[in-house]
Amino acid sequence: MREVMTKSMARNIFYGGSLFFIIIFVGLSAHSHLYITSTSTNAATLTESVAAGKRVWEDKACINCHTILGEGAYFAPEVGNVMTRWGVLDDPELAFETLKGWMESQPSGIEGRRQMPQFHLTDEEIRDLSNFLIWTDKIDAQDWPPNDAG
Ligand code: HEC
Repeated sequence: MREVMTKSMARNIFYGGSLFFIIIFVGLSAHSHLYITSTSTNAATLTESVAAGKRVWEDKACINCHTILGEGAYFAPEVGNVMTRWGVLDDPELAFETLKGWMESQPSGIEGRRQMPQFHLTDEEIRDLSNFLIWTDKIDAQDWPPNDAG
């Protein structure tokens, strides 16, 4: 006897198969969404100050020289992990003081070193930037970028 696939069998395979993969697709989408919102972005700690710091970052075009999480320009160091490298990640006050000290001593004028401009930021702007850089540092970027240069 010859095995034949009837039209209705073909239709069932088509609909059943489509449904199967649609369910997998929706499941994976939900999983990605949950992963991003709960684990990786740290959204609960997104304060007004962090948002204001991002605006300072954009207004002053820090990204024209720096990268954050590997995005940006390669003239100056990655700053997505600068708070870790400075050892001040868990001390917002010390982070602010350290960043303030850094911002105020630029340009360094050291011969042969790349120079960062003086931005004349207010304490509030520096505090916001500092909080923004702490927040950025706490994003779970799965160790990206692989950079521990100082
Ligand atoms: C014209 C290029 C340029 C711009 C724009 C710039 N920077 Fe820099 N930045 C540098 C350079 C160059 C260095 C490294 C200087 C050195 O090591 O002596 C640096 C270093 C830093 C460091 C220390 C990084 C480390 O790993 O020690 C921080 C923090 C920083 N910049 C923050 C900022 C912020 C915030 C802005 C925007 C308000 C900004 N930079 C804009 C060039 C720039």
